[in-house]
Amino acid sequence: MGVLAGRTALVTGASRGIGRGIAERLGRDGARVAVHYGRNEQAAKETVAAIEAAGGTAFAIGVELGVPGDAQALWAEFDRHADGLDILVNNAGIGSTRPIEEIEEQEYDRVFAVNVKAPFFIVKHGAERLRDGGRVINISSGLARTAAMPQNMAYAMTKGALDVFSRDLSKVLGSRGITVNSVAPGIIDTDNTAELLYGRPDGRAAAAAFSALGGVGEPAEVADVVAFLASEGGRWVTGSWVDVTGGSLT
Ligand SMILES: NC(=O)c1ccc[n+]([C@@H]2O[C@H](COP(=O)([O-])OP(=O)(O)OC[C@H]3O[C@@H](n4cnc5c(N)ncnc54)[C@H](OP(=O)(O)O)[C@@H]3O)[C@@H](O)[C@H]2O)c1
Repeated sequence: MGVLAGRTALVTGASRGIGRGIAERLGRDGARVAVHYGRNEQAAKETVAAIEAAGGTAFAIGVELGVPGDAQALWAEFDRHADGLDILVNNAGIGSTRPIEEIEEQEYDRVFAVNVKAPFFIVKHGAERLRDGGRVINISSGLARTAAMPQNMAYAMTKGALDVFSRDLSKVLGSRGITVNSVAPGIIDTDNTAELLYGRPDGRAAAAAFSALGGVGEPAEVADVVAFLASEGGRWVTGSWVDVTGGSLT
């Protein structure tokens, strides 16, 4: 029996990348996992199949985030499959690499809608489903605290806002024994970073040089930390910002 046996988890953006890594890990730990996806139904089905192949249980729910009514639509889908929730991982997110001189309002609004507004309203509309003693884990970014990188400004601002949300929400949900934390990855090898890592020959080496450990992270490195926070061992950790950058901020 896994340490999360009997628990239900929802991981947004679990069709690919870090979210998939988290979903698979929570599934291996015994949780029943809601694998949320946006556009890639096939990839979400593959995540579900991988969890089931490892002996776990999972189901896929597809809802586009960053559009009006997204959170209500997500919970309506979730309710068709499950009755209550123990672990919510707000992972779905998008990047933005245009500096202030170039970014237009549409891109700014979109990155805030997906990265900040969606998690906020997912919690607002889902809090009653979250059982006492549960977990909310928001996937932030080392870019919220690293030295300024102007081309990532709008994206970093979304993660800064998400971090304030984690901190303040921990006070709101604490009376119910629900912990809320931000987990901040450094550069992780996913579709999101493919251009950065593989768009030029020295991309991966340059990315690795950011980290004290001299490497590029994998989704499993983030998933292991999320799994700890989701477990009984994480019960007294709340309102915190967990650095999973391999020492990229040192
Ligand atoms: N990779 C990194 O180096 C890194 C570093 C720090 C923080 N992060 C954060 O970690 C999280 C995951 O990043 P990743 O690298 O794993 O990204 P990814 O490989 O691009 O995957 C993104 C996931 O989010 C979903 N998603 C994106 N926009 C969506 C939308 N509008 N509606 C619904 N679902 C949506 C995608 O679903 P579909 O494909 O089904 O549409 C996909 O499952 C993000 O919050 C990101 O900011 C990543």
